[in-house]
Amino acid sequence: MSKLAIDGGEKVFAEGVNLGGWPPVYPETAEKLAKLYMSQKWSFYGAVEMAFSANFAKYHDAKFGTFMVNGTATLETALKALGVGPGDEVIVPSWTWMATGMAPLYVGATPVFVDGDKATFCMDPEAFEAAITPRTKAVIPVHLFGSVADLDRICAIAQKHGVKVVEDCAHAHGAKWNGKGVGSFGDVGSFSFQQSKIMTAGEGGMCITSDEELFDRIGRYSHIGYSLGSKQGKPSTPPPVNLDSHNYRCTEFQAQILQDQLDRLAEDSKRRQENADYLHAELRKIPGIGTQAPGRCATVQSYYVFGITVDPAALKPGKTKADVIAAVNAEGAVEVFAGWGAVTYKQRLWNASPDRYRVESFRTVEEIIQNRIVLADIRWLNGPRSRCEKLVEAFRKVMQEYGK
Ligand SMILES: Cc1ncc(COP(=O)(O)O)c(C=O)c1O
Repeated sequence: MSKLAIDGGEKVFAEGVNLGGWPPVYPETAEKLAKLYMSQKWSFYGAVEMAFSANFAKYHDAKFGTFMVNGTATLETALKALGVGPGDEVIVPSWTWMATGMAPLYVGATPVFVDGDKATFCMDPEAFEAAITPRTKAVIPVHLFGSVADLDRICAIAQKHGVKVVEDCAHAHGAKWNGKGVGSFGDVGSFSFQQSKIMTAGEGGMCITSDEELFDRIGRYSHIGYSLGSKQGKPSTPPPVNLDSHNYRCTEFQAQILQDQLDRLAEDSKRRQENADYLHAELRKIPGIGTQAPGRCATVQSYYVFGITVDPAALKPGKTKADVIAAVNAEGAVEVFAGWGAVTYKQRLWNASPDRYRVESFRTVEEIIQNRIVLADIRWLNGPRSRCEKLVEAFRKVMQEYGK
């Protein structure tokens, strides 16, 4: 057995690992951005924004797309457009980014947190159904990290109870469920283009829907009452009276960056999926190591981060997930990390206001967060297979020492 690097042995990544920056950059995009700059048309229903919104929606099998400033504004706007407000409850996963739970609060509703599935970590459909009350107006399943929530079961339960569905696809650009794009199963699909995401323009977001009326409302709520096709200062049709709308518009520059990424998405997803398939197969051969299960019917599984699990029962007494992370990183795999640290409402942002949310269930995901999850970011999948092979080798080496 070779000595672990953390104990002074040789590193698996003897030359270190350079994951490179994120996102990839393309000179032809830079040229287009320069032209856009000179065009002096930078926002407000520009041609690039319109084309990108339509193309992105189509890629995900929806009819309409509305481009916005970020993936928090899209969730909030989706809920507003669906008529969610004070007195309503919105069911969200206990394990997600804060924004998923904050969006219901912004519109005056109560977020209700429910547990995740032990294999995919996404919302558990049974936990969702158990949390439904007469006040439940909407549910926000999240396609978390490298999986897709069980859309068939969640949408069937939602339909049975008259609950609206907003899919949070912030981690799932390009993923398909039974051949159909994520975001097109719910009433609205919400995407983020924040710096770390699969597609990014630094910031940005998109709501997709196939419901024309909903599309109009989403547009007006995010565009200070203006309808599609308006000119600045001249609404083509007047906004409804008392529409408390926002300006969440985004720019032509961001649309251009994202359009060029969209053009590459199918090819990039394929390469990442091949690396992910390799990691699933090889990591699962290591006693005590597992991986986050892809969506049950995901015909294309996109990966924002790759989820690896450590079984605490397989570790020697005194060793924890944190020791495994430290030892794997010492082998040179510097970018393997523990994740968000706690279920959403136990983060500081939430502890301040326990009266404003309800917790229904959380134990499965809390145990995974505390004891099991290790994340490897998208750049591992974007790079060559040889790097993934070394990552597996690092886990194998560490588990030979730390496993029972
Ligand atoms: C699951 C999830 N939902 C929503 C958001 C919010 O997106 P944004 O950061 O663009 O506001 C994020 C991201 O960062 C996220 O990870």
